[in-house]
Amino acid sequence: MTSRNYDVKDMSLAADGRLRIEWAYREMPVVHLIRERFAAEKPLKGIRISGCLHITTETANLALTLKAGGAEVTLCASNPLSTQDDVAAALVEYGIPTNAIKGEDDNTYYQHINAALDSKPHITIDDGADLVTTIHTKRSDLIADVIGGAEETTTGIIRLHSMHKAGKLKYPMIAVNDAQTKHLFDNRYGTGQSTIDGITRATNILWAGKKVVVCGYGWTGRGVSMRAKGLGSHVIIVEVEPVRALEAVMEGYQVMPLLEAAKVGDIFITVTGDKSVIDEPHFNVMKDGAILANSGHFNAEIDIPALEAMAKKKRTIRGFVEEYTLADGRCLFLLGEGRLINLAAAEGHPASVMDMSFANQALCAEYMVKNKGKLEIKVHPVPEKIDKEVARLKLRAMGVAIDTLTEEQQKYLASWEEGT
Ligand code: ADE
Repeated sequence: MTSRNYDVKDMSLAADGRLRIEWAYREMPVVHLIRERFAAEKPLKGIRISGCLHITTETANLALTLKAGGAEVTLCASNPLSTQDDVAAALVEYGIPTNAIKGEDDNTYYQHINAALDSKPHITIDDGADLVTTIHTKRSDLIADVIGGAEETTTGIIRLHSMHKAGKLKYPMIAVNDAQTKHLFDNRYGTGQSTIDGITRATNILWAGKKVVVCGYGWTGRGVSMRAKGLGSHVIIVEVEPVRALEAVMEGYQVMPLLEAAKVGDIFITVTGDKSVIDEPHFNVMKDGAILANSGHFNAEIDIPALEAMAKKKRTIRGFVEEYTLADGRCLFLLGEGRLINLAAAEGHPASVMDMSFANQALCAEYMVKNKGKLEIKVHPVPEKIDKEVARLKLRAMGVAIDTLTEEQQKYLASWEEGT
């Protein structure tokens, strides 16, 4: 669905999208509060925002919130398989040009990124840094107008730090992913639940009793492992960083190198952010029927070209399930073309957790406008005030009250003389 190709046939699609956007909004009370304030105060008046994000019901609610604040918003997809076409159609009806079609090829994907940049943004919002890298490498004439950018995901932030280190970053960025109210919830509970959801929708497997190999024990790996364990799977962790590996051991998981895990696993899930994590040596020893899925940002974690080269036969067994038959007769099943399975085969993170991530995005957009020209060109953390405010609002929306320290307790914590 692109803003240019929108036609009558898309009207019923758009109606479905509107209802689903409404449904998600019920679970986004913090974004709701921000939208009401933005509508009254218009802090983004005259600001053009381009967002390269997964086109979901939750993203639609972020875009509508930015628009309520006075911004002109243009969107494109941040992954070729994550777009919900009904949402794209509804967004176009809401007056938000949305350049995204589920299943678009790489060429169209980059055409859509360029179309989103044609709006000459003051602010860029990325999920994976494709917009910010395109503007820096191919559309640098647009940089003079940019106030700043925000990045939603771990992979994007790694790319931004590399850009900055190489002296290539040309405008200030805010690392929204690194806010506590983002990664501790979205990356852990969001990816945990939606990854299991995507694999279940694609395959309808029973998790109980399965050997699930999780590659990567960052926040997303922790979430995926926790949920697989909760469903009765035997979880094996593969991790290169010793402290994380130790944590996984103490959480009660088996930890081993991938070459060993490859021999016993039923389901493999990559969440490392790196490339060729599962490769030919691993395919060589996997059991017949092994299922391979990725929930990291890019489709580089499973070496698909190597799998293609090894396969004697390939067929689509069902939606999002490709069967690869190897020379010795074993079949391996790749889900969702190795793209993030939680968005390809399911709907991504539930709205309740995106509420916090996108509250941070909306408040950071407002912060960048308020601090126009004052932010150093580097990757900034989300201001602590914003992070804490999102937590406070979320707790309030959930009906949870918490205590505050007494003056005496605050003094005690600030002093060093008094021990007992
Ligand atoms: N990333 C993961 N889940 C998402 C969702 N539901 N909407 C937007 N971005 C996401």
